[in-house]
Amino acid sequence: MKLVIFGPPSAGKGTQAQKLSKRYGIPQISTGDLLRDHVARKTPIGMKVKEILDAGRLGPDDLIVQMIKERVSQPDCRDGYLLDGFPRTMNQARELEKMTDVDLVLNIMVDPEVLVERAVGRRICPKCGAVYHVKFNPPKRQGICDKCGSPLIQRDDDKEETVRRRLKVYQEQTAPLIEYYRSKGKLVDIDGSKGIEGVFEQLVNAVEGVRKTRP
Ligand code: AP5
Repeated sequence: MKLVIFGPPSAGKGTQAQKLSKRYGIPQISTGDLLRDHVARKTPIGMKVKEILDAGRLGPDDLIVQMIKERVSQPDCRDGYLLDGFPRTMNQARELEKMTDVDLVLNIMVDPEVLVERAVGRRICPKCGAVYHVKFNPPKRQGICDKCGSPLIQRDDDKEETVRRRLKVYQEQTAPLIEYYRSKGKLVDIDGSKGIEGVFEQLVNAVEGVRKTRP
């Protein structure tokens, strides 16, 4: 099964992608995580995109598409995968279409002011990638990852000003993909204002709906 988890910054894509990946046994492929990993390792790609990420703008389509092509060709993607944060431009959507036929695009919808609060309060584990929120999803011990015990950090692009810029970029360059996928009959809207489990339940229902139609 090939799924796309779609939505504005901090809608909960990563949180839900991790849960869906566990539930269905398919890898989560997050372009944001891949890029942040390059930045942390100071690779040539990381050096190229660090400023772009910190400014809340989008990375170059050709580089992102190449990264996805390489990732989906790995053996663990044989039975499907979950794309988180890709595609994000019309150009990326067309490139994806050349690569494969996605089964479902899960569109998580959340009010913009809620998104800012979710982003600013987010904390992540730089070691295992777990995602927390100081208010909505706190770790058991403040500032420490429940899963691996590492100190949690705040992402450089989660400052309020940068979050607002990311939301603007989303509206201009990414939101038009909603109608593109809706017109293909592939898009399901998900109410992202519910709690984490409430959103997950809707996502599972949507995925099960598609699984039933498969041979
Ligand atoms: P990326 O990492 O993809 O960032 P994003 O799309 O802005 O999404 P986020 O990671 O901010 O949020 P999310 O939706 O995953 O929410 P999360 O689950 O963490 O990309 C970062 C950057 O990389 C981009 O700005 C761009 O520069 C570049 N990039 C990436 N992909 C690219 C591409 N394809 N093309 C070009 N450039 C690209 O949740 C957020 C917070 O809310 C957490 O604290 C969480 O605990 C909390 N939360 C989650 N769900 C709920 C809920 N239901 N109720 C309450 N709190 C919740």
